[in-house]
Amino acid sequence: MTTSARFRTAYAKHREAEGRGSRGVAELLALPYLRTGPLARQWAVRARSYECLLRAVVAPLRRARAPQPLNVLDLGAGNGWLCYRLALQGHRCVALDWRRDAVDGLGAGAAYGAHLAPALSRVAASFDALPVKRAFDLVVFNAAIHYTSSLDGTIGEAVRATLPGGRLVILDSPFYGRAVDGERMVAEKRETARREWGDRAADLLALRMIEYLTADRLAAASAPFHLSWRRHRVRYPLWYELRPLAARALGRRPPSRFDVWETVVR
Ligand SMILES: C[S@@+](CC[C@H](N)C(=O)[O-])C[C@H]1O[C@@H](n2cnc3c(N)ncnc32)[C@H](O)[C@@H]1O
Repeated sequence: MTTSARFRTAYAKHREAEGRGSRGVAELLALPYLRTGPLARQWAVRARSYECLLRAVVAPLRRARAPQPLNVLDLGAGNGWLCYRLALQGHRCVALDWRRDAVDGLGAGAAYGAHLAPALSRVAASFDALPVKRAFDLVVFNAAIHYTSSLDGTIGEAVRATLPGGRLVILDSPFYGRAVDGERMVAEKRETARREWGDRAADLLALRMIEYLTADRLAAASAPFHLSWRRHRVRYPLWYELRPLAARALGRRPPSRFDVWETVVR
């Protein structure tokens, strides 16, 4: 098995151990509004980013493209919940992920087919080698681009899939104010992995992913494509917004934050 195949297998097991997908179709139809269980706090944050995406990006773009619905490409889509939500609003969506498993990979998303088959397609591929060119109004990385090992390569692929005047969006990837804090997070994660992830740790750590972004890192990787990014600052739950204060009080490194980052592709 290749390193990336081993990663995908270990990742699915890891996600299963976290409890993802454990509530079947009810969970799929609820996302991102999962209000109970151990992941509810995390989804409360993610739901805010999703709502900001709708308000700040999808609604204006829809008006600009009216009466046509948007063609949306969701890169690293997991089970495809975002596509499902957007398809319900009438858009044509493609969920792309390199995992087919039924935990929270594309296999799990099969259940959406029973609800709106024609508006949602699922494609198993890497976002580093996209099988489409210049076809989408909106290309989204939802909690996914920090898994790349080549930020400029992945952005280049996404740009090539986007129609002129279309939008490329990153949401729910960890952004740090300073790279040094991102590096500290990576070191902490590796330490935790070795202690707590058991047999899966080696495979999960074998891929050299970028793991985090900074505004500078994103700008540098986007420079070859002449992209300029705009951040839509999301209003997150109070406990999330207070984390920097708590970290300072406890003498810990500053936390990341997500937000919605948008650029226009020319
Ligand atoms: C944290 S999950 C997010 C899933 C989904 N977008 C969501 O918001 O719930 C990250 C996803 O990115 C996918 N991924 C990571 N690297 C990828 C790659 N090179 N090509 C396609 N998908 C990738 C993983 O398989 C995983 O499903």
